[in-house]
Amino acid sequence: MKTLEAIFKRRSIRQYKPGEISQQDIETLLKAAMAAPTARNCQEWEFVVVRDKNMFKKMLEIHPYARMLEHADCAIVVCGNTQREHAPGYWMADCGAATQNILLAATELGIGSVWLGVYPNQDRMDGLSRLLKLPAHVKPLNIISLGLPAEHPAEVDRFDPAKIHYELW
Ligand SMILES: Cc1cc2nc3c(=O)[nH]c(=O)nc-3n(C[C@H](O)[C@H](O)[C@H](O)COP(=O)(O)O)c2cc1C
Repeated sequence: MKTLEAIFKRRSIRQYKPGEISQQDIETLLKAAMAAPTARNCQEWEFVVVRDKNMFKKMLEIHPYARMLEHADCAIVVCGNTQREHAPGYWMADCGAATQNILLAATELGIGSVWLGVYPNQDRMDGLSRLLKLPAHVKPLNIISLGLPAEHPAEVDRFDPAKIHYELW
């Protein structure tokens, strides 16, 4: 699949059929994540791969919009290591770029994915940090829910020329 094809095909997938994502594919997703750009090349990302369904149940108690985890096969929690970032606040942008790479790579591999926002919701961050035993300097940005897709939403065209400003506003 070409890059642009994956970009335009990617949709949030919240319905999954039974079946496992291979460890090899998970590693490909993580490799794609770590190919993302970061400020000063700090690579301050950390990834917690969760496959234990009991943990998904606990995540559901923390995140109010994560019902799809009930049928997910795997979750990747993308985190920022604030001890490694270039300057305060860069971790969100850097880990966001890594997240988008995971979503695009998942699209190419035929894996359903959806970004579940955690940062900047303090309750979700605290709950997930406790659950995953994250050190204080490691902040969760999101949960990426992954599974074999049981829905195939159509591509959407969100291109809006009104959002583009050439030279000046
Ligand atoms: C920062 C962020 C937080 C999101 N949080 C959630 C969430 O908590 N639950 C959910 O089902 N989808 C979540 N999404 C997915 C969006 O709802 C989705 O990307 C948007 O509706 C556009 O649809 P599409 O991804 O299919 O193009 C989130 C996306 C982003 C970027």
